[in-house]
This record gives sequence, C-alpha cells and structure tokens, in this order.
Amino acid sequence: MPEILICEVGPRDGLQNAKQLMPTEAKKAWIRSLADAGLREIEVGSFVPPKLIPAMADTHELVVFSRALPNLKVVALAPNLKGFQRAIEAGAHKVTFPVSASREHSLSNVRMTPDQMVEEVRKCAEHPHPGVEMEGAVSTAFGCTMQGEVPEEDVVRIASKLAGFCDSVALADTVGYANPAQVKRLFNKVRSEIGDKLEGAHFHDTRGLGLANALAAYEVGVRAFDSSLGGLGGCPFAPGASGNVITEDLVFMFESMGLDTGIDLDKLLEARKLMVSAIPGEPVYGHLAMAGAPKGFHAAA
Ligand code: COA
Ligand code: ZN
Repeated sequence: MPEILICEVGPRDGLQNAKQLMPTEAKKAWIRSLADAGLREIEVGSFVPPKLIPAMADTHELVVFSRALPNLKVVALAPNLKGFQRAIEAGAHKVTFPVSASREHSLSNVRMTPDQMVEEVRKCAEHPHPGVEMEGAVSTAFGCTMQGEVPEEDVVRIASKLAGFCDSVALADTVGYANPAQVKRLFNKVRSEIGDKLEGAHFHDTRGLGLANALAAYEVGVRAFDSSLGGLGGCPFAPGASGNVITEDLVFMFESMGLDTGIDLDKLLEARKLMVSAIPGEPVYGHLAMAGAPKGFHAAA
C-alpha cells in the first residue's frame, strides 16, 4: 500500500468555485482519468441545494459513475442531514462534513453556528449509514478571512466533539492562512486530544505555502492529503479563498522524496490536460506542468 494517500478534491472544491460549468460527461472523463492515474480517493462533488451551487447539481450521477471504477473510494461533501441522505442514496463510500471553527464562516457557509453544525453532524451519525464513512473536516482551522484569528482552543474543541461520532477528522485551511509552524503545532495539539482519529490535511495555496504546509503536516505524522489538479479550488462562501494545494506538485514532492503515492505523474498530467480542455477559460496553476520532471527523475515505487 502506498504510504501517502492523496484525495483529489478538484471535482468538488475546484468546480464549486469555477466560473465555468464543466459538463457532466467531461467530469466523468476527468474522474476516470484521475482514477487511471492511480488516485485512490476522489471527492466527486457535494450534496448541496442545486440552486445554491449549480455546478454540483450532477453529484448523484457522478457518485454512481465513480463507484463503478475499480479501487476508488468515492467521497462527497454534505452540509446537513438532507445532503447525507442524498449521499447515502447515491452510494458514496465516504462523506465529509465542513464544520467551520470560525463562527462567521460557519454562518456564511452553512447558516449554522459551529456548535449547531456539530449537532447536525451528530444527527447524521445517528442516522443509519451502513458502511458509509464519516469525516468531520474542521474548516477555517488556521484563520478566516471574515473573523481573522481562529483560536486554537476552538479547533481542538470542535475536533474533539467530531471525533466522538465521526470515523475520522481533518483540519482544513480553507482560505490559505496557515504557516508550517502553526500546522505542526495545531496537528500535534489536536492529535494529543483525539489520537489517530486525526487523519487528513486540506490546504489551500492562497499565499504560496500549500506545499510547505503539506510537508510540515507530513513531518508530524499526517499521511492523508487533499489537493486539486491545476490548483483549482476555493470556497464560494469565504471571501478571498483561492486554489487548493496543487495535486501534481504535491505528488512530485513526495515521490521525489522517495515516498510512494501510488500515482503515475505522466498519467496525472494527461488528466490535467482533460480538465483544462473542459474548462478552457479557468486559471490553472502548477510548477511541474510548466517545467516538467527533472532529468533522471524516478518515481518512488
Ligand atoms: N440538498 C438539497 N437540497 C437541500 C439540502 C441539501 N443538502 N439542504 C436543504 N435543501 C433544500 C431544502 O429542502 C429547502 O428546499 P425548499 O426551499 O424547496 O423547501 C431549501 O434547500 C432550504 O433549506 P434549508 O434547510 O432552509 O437550508 P438553508 O437555506 O438554510 O441552507 C445549507 C443551509 C447547509 C443547505 C446551505 O447553506 C449549504 O448547502 N451550504 C453548503 C455550502 C457549500 O457547499 N460550501 C462549500 C463547501 S465547504
Ligand atoms: Zn477547500
């Protein structure tokens, strides 16, 4: 089993914030190419009201499609019980819930306070969900464009509550405020409360620290990372949010360090081409795609 798990969140975090809609058939071709490249987890969409985010209206169809792909854990985001029920009905393997540590972002994003959102996730956990994994993602864990500083005690408190009824907990830097020292401190603090329930790291590259933060998280034991191809991404309900840490650069970093991700970089760059051609006006980023791999580069395994 590869030692690093990368979950591609472009079809959800990326497309929810894109100016262009990607047609459903193009999304399917992109998801298939990502799975072919060796991605073992893909967040294919969210179960939110289609009126609110029209780009996510086809998530049911995408979950059904993705479930048929081999060796793929199909992830979807849900903001409430209704979304969770829709995710279960579609057949998602794993559902992630955005629980903001910032009160202001929480109200803007899900129209609930952080504590109300924790209770919503608890309701979901009490709802029968055989075989469906639940992840509590503490968003704006490192700071918030609306509230500014987010106290670490708030993050620890929310993470601890979520750990009581979720299978795993992730920390998310929704608006790209984190720095590597803070990442190490907060992951260590939360882990000392909830142990191995703390799994994922979700970073945005808004201020250019995405990879540095991912490396810092790796150094304190994190092995599961969200990222998006071409650095698409951002929360439409958090002003100033921009793209996720770039999948192909993240894969390159780990592989060049000798850490196996299970992902084939050449195939990943093919998947990137498919994505770019399906939303041609959308800005995409990425150093590896621009420069290519260094001469003599060998993947880890
Ligand atoms: N999927 C589909 N429809 C939903 C839904 C869901 N998950 N949740 C609520 N609805 C419908 C309700 O049935 C209701 O429909 P009606 O007007 O036909 O009766 C309508 O949406 C309003 O429902 P309500 O419960 O009052 O929701 P709200 O307007 O207070 O919005 C959320 C709350 C959580 C649904 C919304 O803020 C949301 O989806 N937020 C997530 C945003 C997001 O994805 N952010 C980026 C990811 S971090
Ligand atoms: Zn995000």
